[in-house]
Amino acid sequence: MPNTCDVVVLLSGTGSNLQALIDSTRTGDSPVRIAAVISNRADAYGLQRASDAGIATRSLDHKGFEGREAFDAALIELIDEFNPKLVVLAGFMRILSADFVRHYQGRLLNIHPSLLPKYKGLHTHQRALEAGDAEHGCSVHFVTEELDGGPLVVQAVIPVELHDSPQSLAQRVHVQEHLIYPMAVRWFAEGRLTLGEQGALLDGQLLGASGHLIRN
Ligand code: GAR
Repeated sequence: MPNTCDVVVLLSGTGSNLQALIDSTRTGDSPVRIAAVISNRADAYGLQRASDAGIATRSLDHKGFEGREAFDAALIELIDEFNPKLVVLAGFMRILSADFVRHYQGRLLNIHPSLLPKYKGLHTHQRALEAGDAEHGCSVHFVTEELDGGPLVVQAVIPVELHDSPQSLAQRVHVQEHLIYPMAVRWFAEGRLTLGEQGALLDGQLLGASGHLIRN
């Protein structure tokens, strides 16, 4: 396919979002090609999913490096061997250095299990329940130097039910993650999604403060 968009996926764990991406590229008309999957954990199940799908895998253990900058510099080198147009963070549980983020400015996406800017960081489902929120969800955003910050691309909103636990919420949020991440990656691959000075643009239109909003 002449207009293929090569993507490198970074992950640290299970890789269910990677699996959703892999599945979405199997439609025949997908412009997305996952060139490689890289993990900072050699035992991440996501690497197994990638090799099962015939995708190149690499692991780079952060513990072998003196400090964040050194690891991130090595990671950049590894990623750039695959010459990706887009880098996708899919449960990559590392804080990224400013140099790393700047290197991939405008071509680095992340997914986060909350309605950002609410609940950056960890334990998002628990925190939404403790706050008594009526709604919860997930967000895809361009990555900037602010942790779990950066212009929003798309959010999926679900209602919080009376008897929800962090586990039941996580499960329903995951279903939404698996829908919106492949969608956002495809938009990028098609050249429809870009990062402008003012924020994320879809088809040349500035997306609002929540990005493209999907209510369930
Ligand atoms: C996902 O829920 C993703 O939103 C979250 O990690 C999980 C990875 O699941 N990411 C973050 O919390 C980033 N701050 P997966 O390995 O099954 O795709």
